[in-house]
Amino acid sequence: MILVTGGAGYIGSHFVNYISQKEADEEILVLDKVLPQFVLKALSPRIKWVEGDICDQSLLRKLFSQYKITEVVHFAAYLSVPESQALPHLYFKNNVAGSMALFEVMEEFGIRRIQLRHLRTAAGQTSDRRGSAGSIERLRAYETNG
Ligand SMILES: NC(=O)c1ccc[n+]([C@@H]2O[C@H](COP(=O)([O-])OP(=O)(O)OC[C@H]3O[C@@H](n4cnc5c(N)ncnc54)[C@H](O)[C@@H]3O)[C@@H](O)[C@H]2O)c1
Repeated sequence: MILVTGGAGYIGSHFVNYISQKEADEEILVLDKVLPQFVLKALSPRIKWVEGDICDQSLLRKLFSQYKITEVVHFAAYLSVPESQALPHLYFKNNVAGSMALFEVMEEFGIRRIQLRHLRTAAGQTSDRRGSAGSIERLRAYETNG
């Protein structure tokens, strides 16, 4: 079974749709803070939907114990650049600490296969060290694929 975090979001839902058609035998478990109402749920009976948070390690342990998860595709994240600038602690907690919480539980269960598709949305200094505090140059979003 593949665990897809953030599988109800924009990219995650396309991935879930794609993989549910491509891998006819693969079961999919979606973990997302906010689940869709109708459309996605009708995609396939092989997709299980769980409403929950990747920061919740007891929930993660429950899911890894209950289902035979062999790999994780990790999309769950907040990704508004202006919001990350206004609330950096919230973004750090959700995106960085949340990912660490997920990786720790994966490690506990011996699951080492993961796909990351993250834009790192981060507030911080750039090479322009002379920029003023309000400079747009202080904020950059850049993509990493791991
Ligand atoms: N949209 C793009 O163009 C794009 C491009 C490249 C990479 N990405 C990356 O793909 C990922 C998903 O992007 P998206 O555009 O689908 O965003 P999205 O906001 O549509 O989806 C993110 C999903 O993650 C869920 N989520 C957030 N925090 C969570 C948590 N703590 N626990 C469980 N679920 C949580 C949200 O409820 C949402 O459904 C992000 O990591 C983003 O950086 C997006």
